[in-house]
Amino acid sequence: MNHFLDIHKTDPAALRSMIDQGIAMKQARNGRPKGAPDDEQPLAGHMVALIFEKPSTRTRVSFDVGVRQMGGQSMVLSGADMQLGHGETIADTARVLSRYVDLIMIRTFEEETLLEMAEYASVPVINGLTDRTHPCQIMADVMTYEEQRGPIAGKKVVWSGDGNNVFASFAHAAAQFGFDLTFTGPETLDPERAWLDVAEKAGHPITIERDPVKAVEGADLIVTDTWVSMHDPESAKERRHNQLRPYQVNEELMSHAKPDALFMHCLPAHRNDEATSGVMDGPASVIFDEAENRLHAQKAVMRYCLGK
Ligand code: CP
Ligand code: NVA
Repeated sequence: MNHFLDIHKTDPAALRSMIDQGIAMKQARNGRPKGAPDDEQPLAGHMVALIFEKPSTRTRVSFDVGVRQMGGQSMVLSGADMQLGHGETIADTARVLSRYVDLIMIRTFEEETLLEMAEYASVPVINGLTDRTHPCQIMADVMTYEEQRGPIAGKKVVWSGDGNNVFASFAHAAAQFGFDLTFTGPETLDPERAWLDVAEKAGHPITIERDPVKAVEGADLIVTDTWVSMHDPESAKERRHNQLRPYQVNEELMSHAKPDALFMHCLPAHRNDEATSGVMDGPASVIFDEAENRLHAQKAVMRYCLGK
């Protein structure tokens, strides 16, 4: 039984197989209706619980569709409607759900909730985003980069903006997939030291460059995310906007990267804040491929968790 809790906690060979399998499964579905079952049905007879304590469009729909394409069944559960939201412990919830379902995906706030679920569940647990990390997103992003441009190893990836949960999983991926990662953003919104240490220990130290124009020189991929995440207090919005405005990804900033550089954003986006619509809808943008690849990459993650 394999949990999928974070990219840096997962064996690099297993990560590589998941990316390759995601690409192969996507190709095998070419031209088929979205609701059609896959030829292989590795999740036949399997039940998957998808728990959300925060809003979601992509994660919710891509997991649900992925389970069904592979022959399984899924149930989407809102944390607020479960006893979990009314005082039942995570540990007891994990023990109970394990008696009914074969796999649990959870999107939650504190990382401790995810870790406790994994500790007490007797079925695999997948991290569908916490305040600290978002590994499924970056599996889809690595898949997207490699589909478009070939191996990501050795490429220069630049993150412009908030050093948040999505950045953290990029930092883990830099270590595991062997790419160079630069962070550009205000010092007050730097990534957690712990994540910089993970990358450094793995021999892929993250470069911090306060000047966004210098940061993107020679970049193969530029990535950003919302300036205010779901776990950030609304009261911090104005301050964050003021601090992050110089790090907006716009046409001018993109012009300093390599001519064939790609642009990514995990979505949902606040258009013309963290990135302009010109960039989001421009030739470098692969934002909707990233969203699509959540489906294919997560199907590979689920197969890995279930040993299928
Ligand atoms: N990118 C992402 O995880 O989107 P959702 O919040 O819509 O799931
Ligand atoms: N950083 C964002 C990602 C949303 C998919 C958040 O946590 O709200």
